[in-house]
Amino acid sequence: MTKPHAPLYYPDYLQLDRLLDCQHLESADHGEIAHDEMLFIITHQAYELWFKQILWELDAVRALFKKQAVAEKAVGRAVSHLIRIVEIQRVIIGQIDVLETMTPLDFLDFRDYLIPASGFQSLQFRLLENKLGIRPAQRLSIDKTPYEARFAERDRVALKISEQEPSMFDLLDNWLGRTPFLHFGTFDFWDEYRQAVDVMLAKDRRLIEENPMFTPEKRAHQLKMLTATEAQFDALFDPDKYERLRQDGSFRLSHQALQAALLINLYRDEPILYLPFRLLSLLMDIDENFTKWRYRHALMVLRMIGRKIGTGGSSGHDYLRQTAEQHRVFTDLFSLSTFFIPRSALPDLPPHVRAAMGFQFSESSS
Ligand code: HEM
Repeated sequence: MTKPHAPLYYPDYLQLDRLLDCQHLESADHGEIAHDEMLFIITHQAYELWFKQILWELDAVRALFKKQAVAEKAVGRAVSHLIRIVEIQRVIIGQIDVLETMTPLDFLDFRDYLIPASGFQSLQFRLLENKLGIRPAQRLSIDKTPYEARFAERDRVALKISEQEPSMFDLLDNWLGRTPFLHFGTFDFWDEYRQAVDVMLAKDRRLIEENPMFTPEKRAHQLKMLTATEAQFDALFDPDKYERLRQDGSFRLSHQALQAALLINLYRDEPILYLPFRLLSLLMDIDENFTKWRYRHALMVLRMIGRKIGTGGSSGHDYLRQTAEQHRVFTDLFSLSTFFIPRSALPDLPPHVRAAMGFQFSESSS
């Protein structure tokens, strides 16, 4: 039997006394309340609450993927957590509209009181970046100082731990590397795929060479583009070349993991690959939504402070615009489309592989 306890009271359950008592206006301390400072604080606090929820979901996904073997059911659960993250991101991107009801002049009423505090010091945002898989070396720095230098000592510990734990990217890389379907009995996905690519590229070359509508210049141009495409496939099929691309940062996934991601995408209509396909797509959505947020935030900053430096000391808009390009994690999943081939050109799966990938139902299983 559960212990009797007093009926729960809504304000107590949500600790509203505490929550609604933490909006302290700096402008009030300086003698004149800036009306919009309340909106500024509440917007940031709402963001931090949503960051907390995103971290909660992301940690749950990482826990599922830390296991030696990730069961089918676990992939389904991970997909549900990731869907929730994507929905939260939609909300927090939209939230910028509310803050933009504050005009630059309204902001100037209290902006100087904030120096040197800045969103740059959002611990939860940095934890999110690290747990997703942004690497320290990839980060843009302000004044050549590492990002953690702008954090209090107590927060630096949490940042270090989050850098050392396996990120979502690392866990995905390992999981993809273990995909069983790359070699399945006599079926070797990579061999089959390579042959299909050769056939497709040879056909493309023939079409260009034999097209009577092309002028010599147009034909030469098309052939040059095809040669560039062939070179990209070359690098994909040659493990040494691929490794060099990894070293120079063009790719990040291991060769094995990249092959698995391709297989999942190309054969996503097979029932067993559908959830893994959803998982990859959601990770791309999350990456893309953070980029969208970064752009929206950068534009808002331009509108709010023009080309002034930020309260945290960065170049402001320029710094933020660059992070939108550079602070990305799952770019390999986006680049993968380069290597997609049409469904009609895909190698047929042999019956034993198809049977293993499908959902079987027979009288005996009912
Ligand atoms: C008037 C509104 C805002 C302005 C003018 C503004 C300005 C800036 C600037 C200039 C930076 C670059 C660092 C610096 O030099 O300070 C920055 C970074 C940042 N801001 Fe804002 N911000 C605003 C609202 C927000 C809101 C509502 C959030 C939500 C949490 C936020 C989160 C962040 C984060 C996470 C960073 C670090 C981005 C990175 O380094 O990649 N900012 N902000």
